[in-house]
Amino acid sequence: MHIILIRLLVIGAIGSPILFGACESDGADEPAVLMAPNLSAPTEVTASSFFVDWPFIEGADGYQIDVARDEAFTDFVEPYQGIRHNFSEFTVSDLEPATTYYVRVRSISRDLVSDNSNVVSVTTINASGSEPGSPLKDAAEFSVGMAVQVNKLNGQHQEILLREYDQITSEYEMKMNIMYPSEGNLDFTQSDATVNWAVENGLDVHGHALIWHNATPTWVEEFSGTDQEFETMIEDYIKTTVTRYKGKVKSWDVVNEAFEDVGGVLRNSVFREKMGDDYIEKCYRWTREADPDVLIFYNDYNMVTHPVKRTAALNMVKDFLDRGVPIDGFGYQMHISHDNPSKEAIESAAKEVTDLGLLLHFSELDVRANPANDLEVLTIQRANYQQNKVREVVEVYNAIPEESKFGITIWGMKDDETWLLEFWGHPDWPLLYNADFSFKRAHTGFLEGLE
Ligand code: XIL
Repeated sequence: MHIILIRLLVIGAIGSPILFGACESDGADEPAVLMAPNLSAPTEVTASSFFVDWPFIEGADGYQIDVARDEAFTDFVEPYQGIRHNFSEFTVSDLEPATTYYVRVRSISRDLVSDNSNVVSVTTINASGSEPGSPLKDAAEFSVGMAVQVNKLNGQHQEILLREYDQITSEYEMKMNIMYPSEGNLDFTQSDATVNWAVENGLDVHGHALIWHNATPTWVEEFSGTDQEFETMIEDYIKTTVTRYKGKVKSWDVVNEAFEDVGGVLRNSVFREKMGDDYIEKCYRWTREADPDVLIFYNDYNMVTHPVKRTAALNMVKDFLDRGVPIDGFGYQMHISHDNPSKEAIESAAKEVTDLGLLLHFSELDVRANPANDLEVLTIQRANYQQNKVREVVEVYNAIPEESKFGITIWGMKDDETWLLEFWGHPDWPLLYNADFSFKRAHTGFLEGLE
């Protein structure tokens, strides 16, 4: 109160005691104007509360808040009918779960009251911690997948996986360094456990990845036999693995990340050195020979942001199609950021795949909220940007031709488990769930993208 009185005295001293807000006035008889607040979209939504704020209104010494169950504000939520509050932010609490509420606010100054603000609405989440509406897999008309680790196929992880997803990709346990750790010793312990879990629970498995330069076992990198022996060993590894999971693994990334980031050229690898530039097509043919029904993909990163790389990879795939080398789809790893790439760029890069009549997989989706490492905690604003980017990705995918739809795979469940923490070495929050298993705005963004 003291502060307000002093403030009024000061204003009085410069000769304009009752004018507030943006309107000009040249006389003391002019009616006073107090601007109405402009509310932002509510955030921090829980099953029983949400937070709403607005920029401070010059001259206001408080605000009146209305919360109703209808947009016309006839059915007020007690006690939120003109409830008085001194600051330009407010937490509405004691609400019902899974219910839509409408909020409006007025500025006040002594006995002056502004017009109503804009009306914002919000739906509280349901009591189990999930959002109202469908789980991701039910809301989507395509497969929704997640990268998993075998030791986390239980407890709360399992609960969320079974609720939200209908497909899994093994994050690293179906790569060559794990499945073929030493010469003559194929080890399917972890891949079997993963695939069996999925089969028992009715989820599809996307196999990832038979050949990847970054998951090549040391003994293969240092292979001591002839080139022919090397090629025979790779053929045997691919055919044994694909045959083992025939009918259980729906699709495979056969070769992963074969192209350099710049120059549109093939990456060098032990496979290329020992088997020649056509090592890739050999691997695709062996996969198809082992399982005529499995869907086979080429998968790579920076496909939206690096057009030269994308064109090189797509030219390879076109050439496969022309020459009858088996291939069914293309995976765009979607390791992206909250501010990049644009929706338009994602859209046109996706079209280049679907124009070829191939399946398109948005594989490995994670959206960095902190690419410049300027945050120590995930701010509401950045979480909103991230939500928007996830929404855009899903909107683009949802709009591709039906015959090209395969699925979107999210690269992990929750922020504290993302591979990006180690990869970039600084904090980030790129996934759909918080460390405590509560869902994020990004999760809402996924659902919004399907509307
Ligand atoms: C990453 C996994 O997330 C990590 O757990 C693992 O240690 C290394 O590989 N591109 C790919 C994925 O195709 O297989 C990578 O996954 C991430 C980049």
